[in-house]
Amino acid sequence: MKVLNQQFQIKYHYPVHFTTSLFDPANRALAHFLMEVDTRPEQHLLVVADTGLWHAQPALEDTLINYFHALLPHYRLYFVQIPAGEEAKNNPIYLEEILRSIDRHGLDRHSLVIGIGGGAVLDLAGYAAAIAHRGIRHIRIPTTVLSQNDSGVGVKNGINFLGKKNFLGTFAPPLAVFNDISLLHTLSDRHWCSGIAEAIKVALIKDADFFHWLETHAEVLLNRDTSAMEQLIYRCAALHLAHIASGDPFESGSSRPLDFGHWSAHKLEQMTDFSLTHGEAVAIGMAIDVLYSGKAGWLDEDSVHRILRLLEKLQFSLYHPLLEEETLLEGLREFREHLGGELTIMLLRAIGTGDNTHTMDHHLIQQCIADLRETSDLHI
Ligand SMILES: NC(=O)c1ccc[n+]([C@@H]2O[C@H](COP(=O)([O-])OP(=O)(O)OC[C@H]3O[C@@H](n4cnc5c(N)ncnc54)[C@H](O)[C@@H]3O)[C@@H](O)[C@H]2O)c1
Ligand SMILES: [Zn+2]
Repeated sequence: MKVLNQQFQIKYHYPVHFTTSLFDPANRALAHFLMEVDTRPEQHLLVVADTGLWHAQPALEDTLINYFHALLPHYRLYFVQIPAGEEAKNNPIYLEEILRSIDRHGLDRHSLVIGIGGGAVLDLAGYAAAIAHRGIRHIRIPTTVLSQNDSGVGVKNGINFLGKKNFLGTFAPPLAVFNDISLLHTLSDRHWCSGIAEAIKVALIKDADFFHWLETHAEVLLNRDTSAMEQLIYRCAALHLAHIASGDPFESGSSRPLDFGHWSAHKLEQMTDFSLTHGEAVAIGMAIDVLYSGKAGWLDEDSVHRILRLLEKLQFSLYHPLLEEETLLEGLREFREHLGGELTIMLLRAIGTGDNTHTMDHHLIQQCIADLRETSDLHI
């Protein structure tokens, strides 16, 4: 028998910029970056735009066109608008629309796709870019709290398929990410708060000081203090990036700490037909796993209360009637299948310290849900 052992390494590097007024010609961040990575005399760029953002900021398309006209006149811009929110990932017609646009405008692998919008549109845009011609370079411009602090800065993209979250997708790091805090001013209060769930998540598993910071800044964050949100996004994105770089960026193992609280969240999003936002579902999912950590004897009672208090202070509702349905527990199986290998769920040993378990007691989960129901009854 003969064996040829193939081996090579690929190094990834991408900058995540934190800036403001990204498309003001006085701000050269994007132009400088593109001039560094591109030397073509003529470049093709497809902008995949979030319709919700486009409606909220009607001048944005012209501002963007003017920016390129002033600083990068050799770019040919094309636009495709994608419906807001989870619809972008649920309906395969939008994937096709982007692919058709890529084809129609003759984009090649050295062209560029820029996704601009919330996490859903970015997940779709990144996926389309990753599969067209086996990978067109893509840049992300996230415009929600959640996409700036979490989904937009990582290496994953994807769409929902067969009724399952992120069933189709790839690990495809972006060429760069540009987080512009000023783009958030039109975000609804609901989505402003919703994105904070991911910051609480990463604080709980990685950074007790950050959790404390969130406790002390909950009020100003609720009141839409831009400077506090800027700090939150930077710190949360940094924790996500550090984790991704720390050993298993393409998740070949079975453990996925950044998905703390997500096994039930993903299921609940589907069960509610996406009437809950991702962040709202994650808040509920974390509440379940925090209570579970307490009941399993891993996490002290005081910490359990602190965490639930913070979630409530940020106006997350921690109960949903569909939690009572058996279907929720299918989330455990689907989570395992998505990761591959042994069921691995992150729980908490302390605030700032996660730890994996490989079994979840269904009866105990139901007790956690009963606790959440009772607390929500008290609030009514
Ligand atoms: N790829 C990853 O690693 C990863 C990680 C976490 C979450 N996600 C995914 O991210 C998605 C959720 O993202 P999201 O929370 O950003 O929600 P979203 O993409 O659904 O956007 C929320 C809403 O805000 C609107 N919007 C976006 N920017 C706006 C702005 N500046 N002003 C006004 N409205 C604006 C959108 O049109 C939409 O209606 C989910 O599909 C989730 O699965 C992916
Ligand atoms: Zn998430």
